[in-house]
Amino acid sequence: MTKLWGGRFQKKTNQLMEDFHSSLLFDQKLYKYDILGSIAHARMLGQKKIISPAEAEKIVKGLEELMTELEAGHIELPKDAEDIHSCLEELLTAKVGPVGKMLHTARSRNDQVALDLRMYLKEEIKEVKRLLNELIRTLLEIAEKHLDTVMPGYTHLQRAQPVTLAHHLLAYVQMFERDRSRLEDCYRRTDVMPLGAGALAGTTFPVEPKIVAAELGFSALAKNSLDAVSDRDFVVEFAATAALIMVHLSRFCEEIVLWSTAEFAFIELDDAFTTGSSMMPQKKNPDAAELIRGKTGRVFGSLISLLTMLKGLPLAYNKDLQEDKEALFDVVDTLKKSLLVFCPMLATMEIKKENLALAARGGFTNATDLADYLVQKGIPFREAHQLVSKIVYDCLKLNKTLEDLSLEEYKKYSSLIDEDVYAAINIQHCVAVRQVLGGPSPASVLEVIQRIKEK
Ligand code: ARG
Repeated sequence: MTKLWGGRFQKKTNQLMEDFHSSLLFDQKLYKYDILGSIAHARMLGQKKIISPAEAEKIVKGLEELMTELEAGHIELPKDAEDIHSCLEELLTAKVGPVGKMLHTARSRNDQVALDLRMYLKEEIKEVKRLLNELIRTLLEIAEKHLDTVMPGYTHLQRAQPVTLAHHLLAYVQMFERDRSRLEDCYRRTDVMPLGAGALAGTTFPVEPKIVAAELGFSALAKNSLDAVSDRDFVVEFAATAALIMVHLSRFCEEIVLWSTAEFAFIELDDAFTTGSSMMPQKKNPDAAELIRGKTGRVFGSLISLLTMLKGLPLAYNKDLQEDKEALFDVVDTLKKSLLVFCPMLATMEIKKENLALAARGGFTNATDLADYLVQKGIPFREAHQLVSKIVYDCLKLNKTLEDLSLEEYKKYSSLIDEDVYAAINIQHCVAVRQVLGGPSPASVLEVIQRIKEK
């Protein structure tokens, strides 16, 4: 392929160098955006009489044909092209003749690639948002069915106080809601049209970026040409948001892995989202959850690559910036695949309500409630805490739960304890009385679910 910049050179590019700097292998992903961007640019050039309307028309027609042929898989991209931008320009010129060489008037690959990447990411952000919404919907659906499904809440992975499965799931809904709002923020800053910046210093031609922005559906224009071609903050922001989504998925996956052990036995994953062992016939492994947990690391890696790539760059464009693409594409693909698998894995898992309840009843998750009961009878909390610690200690030796103790036994600890203690330490009751906004009572949880649904 002939080079867009060959004129100044006497020698051929070294083959190793050729392979090293070519980005076609990965940036061909951007072909659709590159063509759409070029169509908008050509139309604007025609409208502003920078090229004649007839020339613009020919270019646009050629680009549209190219799009159809590429989408149908009728043409192959020349493998020796430097990048998708030079490659498409060459294909266009081969198709429409010398007029194709006018397309690059008032444009550089530097503003062109920034445009393509922003168009690509805008679409992907919308898709990730759609997947997040689907996940939130799935979580709400499960939660609605488990408003009364008690389970232990944990601190330090030690049983702490009773909550419900709905409450537990809604914790993740909150995380994913924040992620959604981060995506919206990131979208706003991605939605900025950089064309007109040229290589770095704008252009002498009377271009009108707002025409291009309107055609491509951008809501803002870049305000500084140097920044327009060298800004990749939006890529970093997206990768950071993706990293957090992965963190949230990964924490959830860790719980799913734990919950599906025989030791917890809170859930059983569907066969369709697990795998077996080639040696141990009994195995059913939670691979999907483990892989999502594992893939979180590669998203962090991409985020760090992007930040590191940017930190020493002088203005404006530097070829280092080409490294943004593989990192971003991998983040997008990893995140989307993880969300795509996670959602049905969750929707199809079997929830073992009895085991959740059993775990909530063991482990003294109602010990705080017993202390609170004593406080209501007039004992200062610190003393009540001491007394209940002693009761728990004795129960552990007797292999009993708090519910197992007779009133007679309770009276030995305090004469203030009455028959009503049993209602106070009943697990369902312990959950039901925690009615603070954001608390686990079925009424509080339902209220939150309704608020989210309204949104
Ligand atoms: N492939 C390049 C990239 O991804 C396109 C811009 C090339 N610009 C340049 N001045 N060499 O960044």
